[in-house]
Amino acid sequence: MFQINENYLKLQGSYLFSTIASKVAAYSAANPQKDILRLGIGDVTLPLAPAVIDAMKNAVEEMAHPETFRGYAPDGGYEFLRRAICEHDYRSRGADIGTDEIFVSDGAKSDSGNIGDIFGMQNRIAVCDPVYPVYLDTNVMGGRTGLADPLTGRYEGVIYLPCTEENGFVPQFPSERPDIIYLCFPNNPTGMTISKSELQKWVDYALNSGSVIIYDAAYEAYIREDGIAHTIYECEGAKKCAIELRSFSKNAGFTGTRLGFTVVPKQLMCGDVSLNDLWARRQSTKFNGAPYIVQRAGEAVYSEEGRRQTREQVDYYMRNAACILDGLKAAGYTVYGGVNAPYIWLKTPGQMTSWEFFDHLLERAAVVGTPGSGFGPAGEHFFRLTAFGSYENTKAAVERICSL
Ligand SMILES: Cc1ncc(COP(=O)(O)O)c(C=O)c1O
Repeated sequence: MFQINENYLKLQGSYLFSTIASKVAAYSAANPQKDILRLGIGDVTLPLAPAVIDAMKNAVEEMAHPETFRGYAPDGGYEFLRRAICEHDYRSRGADIGTDEIFVSDGAKSDSGNIGDIFGMQNRIAVCDPVYPVYLDTNVMGGRTGLADPLTGRYEGVIYLPCTEENGFVPQFPSERPDIIYLCFPNNPTGMTISKSELQKWVDYALNSGSVIIYDAAYEAYIREDGIAHTIYECEGAKKCAIELRSFSKNAGFTGTRLGFTVVPKQLMCGDVSLNDLWARRQSTKFNGAPYIVQRAGEAVYSEEGRRQTREQVDYYMRNAACILDGLKAAGYTVYGGVNAPYIWLKTPGQMTSWEFFDHLLERAAVVGTPGSGFGPAGEHFFRLTAFGSYENTKAAVERICSL
């Protein structure tokens, strides 16, 4: 009789988005005349930039002719895309990353889960609380945790790094030494970030303790303030201790088009084993590359036009973020994030739980957000609003919340 991977049975039900969906559906059925405004999901809404669409169309045309048709992409991605990434995302920021340290993929979600393949099962992981759930759940699936405590929801064997109002939503060094540290800045869900000097401290910590940092920079394009690293490789020594995950989803609207990449520096070693070699082997064995058409679309993001157009899209979302932030502050809410990220992390008023506030907003204002407790116990009494909707809807939602 075959056996299943029993680690999957340790997973806690992902009730967050399904519970939200069923509550919204029930409300909508009971109030069919109400126009529900959704500031809950982390998906973009603007169409792809014209420069991206043109590049895709050209690539589609190439696929129609025998002399320009492309089959399997090279392992790690086409040189044209890797060169553009190196130039614009790294060299322009003083980080000397080579094309052979970049691995093009179908997105940061897959990479953040798949990266676990190259690490041993005995490694202890550290994750922020609240957290983008993929880091935690993929380690549960892989067998790197014990069971979840039914009361706290925390997994045995995992080191949690609480990100709270008290520490400015910046994780502090844990008392126990982790082997793998997941960091994500600008952060989903808190919308907060870390200064370059604080990040340098984490790099130093990892170098001293022999840990590896998996750094998710999916929201890098939203950084507006100085003094924040756009890539972890701006920090000294990071090439010896960090892997960086990047995505085209939030900077260029590729959530449905699918493109990302992971940087595994050649200097990153475990004894005499190169992690770059291991990841190259993992990818060439289990992944057959992102589509040529999509990689050409990704290249266009770095063209002059593409950079201008995608920057305008990010600016559009950041205008929404400012609208939420300013509106809620003026109405007396305590709000965080939204300055270098498309997420606003608001403190629920009057000690309401995250779910009580969800119901309150839905029933009284017909506005949907995401309860902070769904991202981890330290998210209780917080609530996430996203800036990815239309400006009109965002403004209307803020007006409704403020008039409660
Ligand atoms: C922190 C973080 N990393 C990764 C992703 C997923 O990125 P991708 O669309 O490239 O898979 C998301 C999506 O919401 C995210 O919030």
